[in-house]
Amino acid sequence: MRTHRIAVIPGDGTGPEVTAEATKVIDHAATVFGFEVEYQRHDIGGVRYLQTKETLTGSDLELLRGTDAILFGAIGHPDIAPGILEQEILLRLRRELDQYVNVRPVRLLPGVRGPLAGVGPESLDFVVVRENSEGLYAGSGEFTAKGSPFEVAVQHSVNSRFAVERCIRYAFELAQRRNRPHLTLCGKTNVLTYAWDLWDRVFSEVSGDYPDVETDYAHVDAACFWMVDDPGRFDVIVTDNMFGDIITDLGAALQGGLGIAAGANINPTGISMFEPIGGTAPGFEGRGEINPLAAIGAAAMLLTTLGEDKAGAAIEGAVASVAGALPSLRAAEMGASTSEVGDQVVEAVANVASVGTV
Ligand code: IPM
Ligand code: MN
Repeated sequence: MRTHRIAVIPGDGTGPEVTAEATKVIDHAATVFGFEVEYQRHDIGGVRYLQTKETLTGSDLELLRGTDAILFGAIGHPDIAPGILEQEILLRLRRELDQYVNVRPVRLLPGVRGPLAGVGPESLDFVVVRENSEGLYAGSGEFTAKGSPFEVAVQHSVNSRFAVERCIRYAFELAQRRNRPHLTLCGKTNVLTYAWDLWDRVFSEVSGDYPDVETDYAHVDAACFWMVDDPGRFDVIVTDNMFGDIITDLGAALQGGLGIAAGANINPTGISMFEPIGGTAPGFEGRGEINPLAAIGAAAMLLTTLGEDKAGAAIEGAVASVAGALPSLRAAEMGASTSEVGDQVVEAVANVASVGTV
């Protein structure tokens, strides 16, 4: 039987609650679709940091490198200064494991009421491919005269041809596999004239290799406008790390909230990491009120990436049917607890599988 080694990093806040539901669904899919899962559980996160001052250790990395994929909950702790865990755990994992694109689907599921009047599932269905290794996230910059009235802080946006090109190629290939292959480059060529000059040149060079994919360009501010005003114009969007971070939170709002928004940090030839993009939601920790569907959606992407296409599609279908039937996707407003929503997905996976639609 096929066996997949999945590392689980539940992390902090509501991370453990939502990852527990995601593994429950994976376990169920494993019995239905005939594969085995070996979990490797990690205590990486804020609680361990407070006890040991360790963020991500060499031995964590070594263990993670021995797995097939990672399911990540969330990290962040109210007693730890912002930035430490984010930089030293999440961003470091993305870099160490060379997860160079972040794929974030933005889809309004049938039956879910999004914030946009008159916009239905047919006109809100796109994917953001976010460069995940450099840009403003490269951690490069400097202070001059720190602490003085003349202080200057510079944060570099690093854009290497190599990283830009591999991200753009990934986006073209993803667009090619969709119904109406269309790729939008989202940048700011009119102001960021070094970085986006390079992106723009590489985009047009690479587009020559994908003649079946239609292309266009949108400045990031205009892209935000269109995402709200006419989201149907987007199919796949490729952008840099910072813009991708920002527009995918807007995307999460459009699809009904962070409770449903999942993302994948992809290394196409290595170990990828799947996460709900909503963070730790500290106000909801331990209450059983957080929506696990984003984490379960991340689990579906994980299984599809590991070649379990049927299981991935069944879970996606199940998430869609459960989401469409909930009164709201927001924490504490779902009309069901975190684990009840997980149970509903389990049941829906069983139904999908028994009627043989996947
Ligand atoms: C995300 C998050 C992270 C990011 C933070 C937690 C560092 O906002 O995954 O979108 O900015 O990439
Ligand atoms: Mn973000």
